[in-house]
Amino acid sequence: MGSKPRLGMWRASLPIVVGVLGLGLVAFSFLLPSQAMDQATPAPEVTDTVAADLEVTKAAPPSALPEPPQPTPGGPGGIDCGQVACVALTFDDGPSANSDALLDKLAELGVRATFFNTGRNTELRPDQVARQVADGHALGGHSWNHADMRKRSAAEACADADRTAAAIKAASGVDTILVRPPYGSWNDSVLAACTGKAFILWNVDTEDWSSHDPAKIADHAINDAKPGSIILMHDTVAETAQALPEIVAGLKAKGYELVTIPELFNEPIGPGQAIYSGLHP
Ligand code: NI
Repeated sequence: MGSKPRLGMWRASLPIVVGVLGLGLVAFSFLLPSQAMDQATPAPEVTDTVAADLEVTKAAPPSALPEPPQPTPGGPGGIDCGQVACVALTFDDGPSANSDALLDKLAELGVRATFFNTGRNTELRPDQVARQVADGHALGGHSWNHADMRKRSAAEACADADRTAAAIKAASGVDTILVRPPYGSWNDSVLAACTGKAFILWNVDTEDWSSHDPAKIADHAINDAKPGSIILMHDTVAETAQALPEIVAGLKAKGYELVTIPELFNEPIGPGQAIYSGLHP
């Protein structure tokens, strides 16, 4: 008596089980982000700061490099930027004479960011690049000496990006495929030619290089930010480090998690992409 009715019940409930599974799959597919990365309109060209570091003496590369911590896609402590509003602070043009003050401030605030270093300044200040990594920040290249990638041949622009990545690797041990084109200037043929690289742009410009005003810098960073925003600042601007406590407090008050560029995504950033913003709820 026991087994027959149970089998009958199974047969009867099979279509229901299949139906529920099917509905579950449909519901799950709606939960997946429909568009992993927003392709915002390319930012207008800006007059970026040309690497202002005029030192000519090269510092010796650090002798013993610590094992670089690997950035965790998916965010610190498992933050999922597809579920929680995140923004990424980014600093270009360094390292510079301001780097230590900036890194001290970030450490004090417990915030990690992404540094797009030029190759030339990396060679001049390899210790600061090693410190960026030791402090948990993510790295990318910003050309050797701030050349516009569209104003030279694609082959030259990509060789320059490779040379910059090699300098960053020599200083920090980190292999990075991330490139921030100076002035936000790139096109499809340059991106296609630079095989193995991803271009990281921004959708919030603090204009720190222009105002040098901590209040204005903070106002742009806090009020122009949207979920998934990539915020452009400069290592070389001393007032940016001064604005950081207000920026971090303001963004946190708006509910944002501050993450590195790789952490804005739930998968490692692959080559061939040009990215203006990250995942958002
Ligand atoms: Ni720049």
